[in-house]
Order: sequence, then structure tokens, then C-alpha cells
Amino acid sequence: MRLVLLGPPGAGKGTQAAALAAELGLAHIASGDLFREAVERGTELGLQAKSHMEQGKLVPNDITIRMILERLQAADARDGFIMDGFPRNLEQAQALDEALSQKGLALDKVVCLQVSTEELVRRLGGRWVCRRCQAPYHMVNNPPRVAGKCDRCGGELYQRPDDTEETIRKRLDVYLAETAPLLNYYRGQGKLVEVNGTPGVEAVSRELLSILKRR
Ligand code: AP5
Ligand code: MG
Ligand code: ZN
Repeated sequence: MRLVLLGPPGAGKGTQAAALAAELGLAHIASGDLFREAVERGTELGLQAKSHMEQGKLVPNDITIRMILERLQAADARDGFIMDGFPRNLEQAQALDEALSQKGLALDKVVCLQVSTEELVRRLGGRWVCRRCQAPYHMVNNPPRVAGKCDRCGGELYQRPDDTEETIRKRLDVYLAETAPLLNYYRGQGKLVEVNGTPGVEAVSRELLSILKRR
């Protein structure tokens, strides 16, 4: 299965993609996580991405598309993947379609998580993320078992530098201007499924699994 998970910042893409990937045996490919790893390691890619991310802007397409198409070559992605955070504009969506079609492949479904702006801001304001494996937590909705530590790997939790009120607003604007038009693109391909992302983490997971298994 080849899936894309769309949705505004804070919709639960990372949370749900990790759960689905584990449940369905898919590779979880998260552009934001790949960029943050590169920033942490101080690589060339990290240097190129850092200032764009801090401002809540998109990293330029050439850098982003190259990184994702490279990641797609890895063995774990061969039997299926779930993309989280990519594509984010039309050029990226077309580059993905093109790369897949060159291998005789195509996306199966594109799921968009819908959540109100008010709730998005609440979620991002209370989010803590693992520095090592990037698993997202929320101090109220989804707290770790031990304060400040990742359940999955024991890594240290931190608040993302782009989770400030001002940058959250910028990221929401960028989503509406650049990413939201992808809904029509995928609707036109008959692949779009819109899902209410407002219920709790487990309820949304169950709904996503039932949709994907119905396929
Ligand atoms: P990226 O890392 O992709 O961030 P984003 O799209 O802004 O999305 P988030 O990761 O903030 O939210 P999420 O939907 O994953 O929510 P989560 O599961 O964490 O991108 C960051 C930056 O990288 C971009 O701004 C850009 O600069 C760059 N970039 C990345 N991809 C790019 C691309 N393709 N092109 C160009 N630039 C790119 O959940 C949020 C919180 O809510 C958590 O606290 C969680 O615990 C909680 N929560 C989750 N689900 C629920 C629920 N059902 N109920 C209650 N709480 C919940
Ligand atoms: Mg995320
Ligand atoms: Zn971790």
C-alpha cells in the first residue's frame, strides 16, 4: 500500500502515520522528521533546511524532492509506505506521481485529516517531541509514561522551535496557500479520503484502519 497523509500542522499526521506504519508494515516517510534529523546532525541538508523551518516556510522544492526520492529508494519502502508531510505543493505531488509511474507504480490513497484551527493551535502549544526518534506527545492529550522521556526509545523530549504562536500561524497560512490545493488534485484522481481528525488518537487510528482495510 502506498499512502499519503495530508493535513494542517498539528492534525496528527506524525501520530497516525507511526501507528499505521506499525500496524500495516509500511515505511513511515516523514519529510519534517528527515529535515530535523539533518539539522540535529548539522549536515549540509540540515543547514539548507534550518532557516526555512524556523520561519515556518517550505524548504525549497529541489532540496525536498531530492531528499524524498532518495528515501523512497531504500529497501523498506519497496513494499509500501506512508508519507507524512510530503507532498506539500503541486510540484512535489507531480514529482512523486512521476517517480512512481516510472516504476509502474502509483499512490493507492491520500488521506486528509481535518481538524479545526482552534484545536490545531491547542495541540501544537502542548506538544513535546522525542529528540531521538521524533515521536510526538502532548502534555494533556497524550503524555509520556515518564515525564520528559520518550516511551518508545527513552530519548529526551523537547518543544520544537517552530511551535511558537507566531510560527504556528505562519505554518497554517502556508498550508492553506500551498498545500490545501492538493486536495483538489487528489480528488481529481479519485484518491482522496477526508477523515475527521478531531476525536482522540485511538478513535482516529481505528477509523483510518477501517477505511484502509475496506479498500
Ligand atoms: P512537519 O514536521 O511536517 O510539520 P507540520 O506539517 O507542521 O506538522 P506537524 O508535525 O506540526 O503536525 P502533525 O500533523 O505531524 O501532528 P502530530 O502528530 O505531531 O514540517 C516542519 C517543517 O519542515 C515545515 O514547516 C517546513 O519548513 C519543512 N518541511 C517539511 N516537509 C516539507 C515539504 N514537503 N516541503 C517543504 N518543506 C517541508 O500531533 C500534534 C500534537 O497533537 C501532538 O502533541 C499530539 O500528541 C497531539 N495529537 C495528535 N493526534 C491527536 C488527537 N487525535 N487528539 C488529541 N491530540 C492529538
Ligand atoms: Mg509531524
Ligand atoms: Zn523516542
